Amino acid sequence: MKAKIIDGKLIANQIKTELIQEIEKLEIRGFTPGLATVLVGEDPASNAYVRMKEKMCDEIGIQNFGYRLSGNTTENELLKLVDDLKNDHKVHGILVQLPLPKQINEQNVINAIPVFKDVDGFHPTNWGKMMIGEESFLPCTPAGIQELLIRSGYSPENKNVVIVGRSKIVGLPLANILIQKAPGANATVTVCHSKTQNLAEHTKRADILIAAIGIPEFITADMIAENSIVIDVGVNRVEAPEKKRGYRLVGDVNFEAVAKKAKAISPVPGGVGPMTIIMLMRNTVKAMKMANKL
Ligand code: GUN
Repeated sequence: MKAKIIDGKLIANQIKTELIQEIEKLEIRGFTPGLATVLVGEDPASNAYVRMKEKMCDEIGIQNFGYRLSGNTTENELLKLVDDLKNDHKVHGILVQLPLPKQINEQNVINAIPVFKDVDGFHPTNWGKMMIGEESFLPCTPAGIQELLIRSGYSPENKNVVIVGRSKIVGLPLANILIQKAPGANATVTVCHSKTQNLAEHTKRADILIAAIGIPEFITADMIAENSIVIDVGVNRVEAPEKKRGYRLVGDVNFEAVAKKAKAISPVPGGVGPMTIIMLMRNTVKAMKMANKL
């Protein structure tokens, strides 16, 4: 293997240490950040993500308020909970794990989260602020990818960045962040998606390729440029009867083959995932400081 591994776990741990120090100082002054985590239904992947977020809260000194609602919860019931959390002064950030069950309109729920507690950065006001480069909560996965690139020495500045995937959680906001006229951005960004023609022609031009399409091992070695930087955002469960849990996690990149050609690659797991979680923690601390005018 030729590629250097971009170790998201290690970099997230550095940020974790920084946050712990900051939270300790706030604690001495009598301030404790609080995050409400809301999971509706029993999707195993969502359940695992929320548990990891809650565990990280405990580890770094953020007070966690965990809510588990049944898969039959109505939109009104969820909106009522969000409204209660809105008025709870111990709760500085509200995270409603997506996707939500079909009977609930996701956007209605996102719109109900107050802008200053929207630590996911999904509220339309935070979207708007992000687009015009105003201070806001940046969505955690895109912010984590930017931080991962910068801290691993592969700044997107002046680079051709090709994003495969246009989701509201990753591709779309990431493109907005990386084209900003701002330090750690200033990239030339192409966004490809399921309807893109001749996809490989685009991906082969990437200095930095970001795979966020949600298809296991979709990016193959022939689709990338020699010595490019590859960030794999995919987390796909693929059946694996030989494993005790019955599945294995694979990214959107064919790791083995791509790692022989790329200059650097982020693994799955241990790449973008830990960065998403730590960015959520950072946003929560930011929300608490804003709420207290610190
Ligand atoms: N589902 C997948 N990623 C995310 C995320 O970053 N936040 C929320 N709320 N749900 C998600």
